[in-house]
Amino acid sequence: MTRSESVPTATGELSLEEKASLTSGDSTWRTTAVRDVVPAIRLADGPHGIRRQVRGSGDALGLTDSVPATCFPPSVALGSSWDAGLARRVGEALAREASALGADVVLGPGVNIKRSPLCGRNFEYFSEDPHLTGIMGAAIVTGIQSLGIGACVKHFAVNNQETDRMRISADVDERTLREIYLAAFEYIVRDARPHAVMSSYNKINGVYASENPWLLTEVLRGEWGFDGVVVSDWGAVNDRVAALAAGLDLEMPPTGTDQEIVAAVRAGRLPEPAVTLAAERVRTLARRVSAAEPADDWDIDAHHELAREAARGSAVLLKNEHSVLPLDVAAQRVAVVGELARSPRYQGHGSSHVVPTRLDSAWDALKAAGPDTTFAAGYRLDGEPDGRLAREAAETASAAGVALVFLGLPGEAESEGFDRTSIDLPGVQIDLLREVARVCPRVVVVLANGGVVSVADWQDDADAILEAWLPGQAGGSAIADLLLGVCSPSGRLTETIPNRLADVPSHLHFPGSDGHVAYGEGRYVGYRYHDTLGTDVAYPFGHGLTYTRFEYSDLAVRETGANEWAVECTVANTGGRTASEVVQLYVAFDEDMPTRPRHELRGFTKVELAAGAGTRVSFTLSGRDIAWWSVARGGWRIDAGTFTVEVGASSRDIRLRAELTAAGDGHVDALGRMSTLGEWLDHPVGGRVLKERLAPALTGTAVSSPALFALARGIPLAKFSTFGIGLTTEVVDDLVAAVRNLDGQDG
Ligand code: BGC
Repeated sequence: MTRSESVPTATGELSLEEKASLTSGDSTWRTTAVRDVVPAIRLADGPHGIRRQVRGSGDALGLTDSVPATCFPPSVALGSSWDAGLARRVGEALAREASALGADVVLGPGVNIKRSPLCGRNFEYFSEDPHLTGIMGAAIVTGIQSLGIGACVKHFAVNNQETDRMRISADVDERTLREIYLAAFEYIVRDARPHAVMSSYNKINGVYASENPWLLTEVLRGEWGFDGVVVSDWGAVNDRVAALAAGLDLEMPPTGTDQEIVAAVRAGRLPEPAVTLAAERVRTLARRVSAAEPADDWDIDAHHELAREAARGSAVLLKNEHSVLPLDVAAQRVAVVGELARSPRYQGHGSSHVVPTRLDSAWDALKAAGPDTTFAAGYRLDGEPDGRLAREAAETASAAGVALVFLGLPGEAESEGFDRTSIDLPGVQIDLLREVARVCPRVVVVLANGGVVSVADWQDDADAILEAWLPGQAGGSAIADLLLGVCSPSGRLTETIPNRLADVPSHLHFPGSDGHVAYGEGRYVGYRYHDTLGTDVAYPFGHGLTYTRFEYSDLAVRETGANEWAVECTVANTGGRTASEVVQLYVAFDEDMPTRPRHELRGFTKVELAAGAGTRVSFTLSGRDIAWWSVARGGWRIDAGTFTVEVGASSRDIRLRAELTAAGDGHVDALGRMSTLGEWLDHPVGGRVLKERLAPALTGTAVSSPALFALARGIPLAKFSTFGIGLTTEVVDDLVAAVRNLDGQDG
């Protein structure tokens, strides 16, 4: 019997008190059951493994223990795989474990944008880019829900820092919200239909997300069609009644304030249908998850292997000079240096912390692979200098042909709940690297970090750098596989690695003060900023090397409908090893289109190719891919004009380009008295009317010089009366009336 058969489908009449009780939990991880009408729903973190707390009352901070579960690579790593199929399979595995551990809803994925590398929770998020985030997030949701378990997409919305996260107001203009910070949520809601969305702690433009009717009702449900439950982040509700009225269905964990809801209804301050609706949505969620096939167990070995595959697919080879990688262990002595090789850092701290089923270390995997492999710890994880360890490491490295130096951030450096203040590696590690580079002919650095670290100061001391991120419980063996060439690296950067923290566009604003953080850089986040301004970066968005080469050719673009295109190109592996390429598609905009980033990612595909093999890769582009959010119009706009399709291997390694012409959405702004001369002249009807009626004035002095004409184009028509060139207020009013008449504009 599936669980659905045990859940009655008829609601029966619920009392107001019962309905109110459904809008909050009955404990940290469970919703309230009502008689035999609505069963309790059990929730568990998320996002990269199941954190199921069964002892005591549990907590939202990852403080107390949980039952062992597979620790898959956190999103910082999984996102770097650019592999939606892999993410979906991880989602399915999460669902299986959730089911076996008695959870109905997984609190994940987290899909906030990496606005600053300092955000302490960046390891839980995918990217600085909303398109990539949306695709990867939707894949996880689809995977989780394919087994009937619910996914809860979080943290909605604009939760891009941990500093003051429970009070800060993220002050963002609407176009930036729509194009950057809401876009991934929108894509996931429309594409994968998650059963739940978690509202964030912070305020957005002064209103708490949990109490924000515009966000939770107008946009999420009204525009995007979300039909699931909005659950608060744990403790994010400040005013129960305001939250419910705004569209929040479920407060977690419970604050014991259901009576406030009942009292507000009785006092006429809250309409009862709002309570009924929220209760109904919680009941629907209970019914939806009851359809899950219960699992008793999962295959621990198979899930560990999947975690290993995911970690392999996620590490990014930043640099590989003299082809130092893959390593030839038979030909040389290999020194493994760095405590992190033996004591891996594989996930972050906070509510996502999973107790793994097992844990691989790179040192164990490497010593098993090469008989002549030695180890030295080199540094202490607490960052305290230890000359003895450093000397021992230098000695070990000096006797080797190549040193593998494992560097990274200690666990205490990054976590939910606080942000970093620097992007530098600990000084003792950099000193150690310099010493090793002095005594050993070849040096490979392997990095373990959840947020980007700066490489500018030390990368010249390394022949190769493998950025492994926080790779989950099988990361150690996956790293060994990559270093030894068992498989080829195939991860790509989902965020820019800047040369300096000060080069990051949010730097002047992050993390705000006085309870506000201004999103002053607007839409220019990550590569959108760096590529528009051409700033130097250490490694660009989309970058990643491998053990072969790929060539791109034969870009073909076909118009398939109004503002719709099919794009294809050929990618060939021209090197000597099987490897995967991530083919990236960007759209670049004409300079005289409304101010836009230089280009934006709109498609990607990961293809594995054997040496010598090639394949056709295809994408589709729709109007939305070239649209922009018009605040004035309150909607998306597609301009007519040309834009460029770029296909390449990173945002700064574009291999093929083609120009497209878009018909646009046909929208033309209505003309009025305050429309400029230029807007009148460019308007299909206004231009004609103006020329017919005002030919003499227009051929006068104002148009005789290009500079004066350019000046005049920017002046609202109504203002011309001031300049005494015959355009009186009456004439302007006549023109407006004429154009409205001819154009059918209703003003
Ligand atoms: C986190 C959420 C998490 C919840 C439950 C909160 O502190 O922000 O991501 O799902 O706790 O543990």
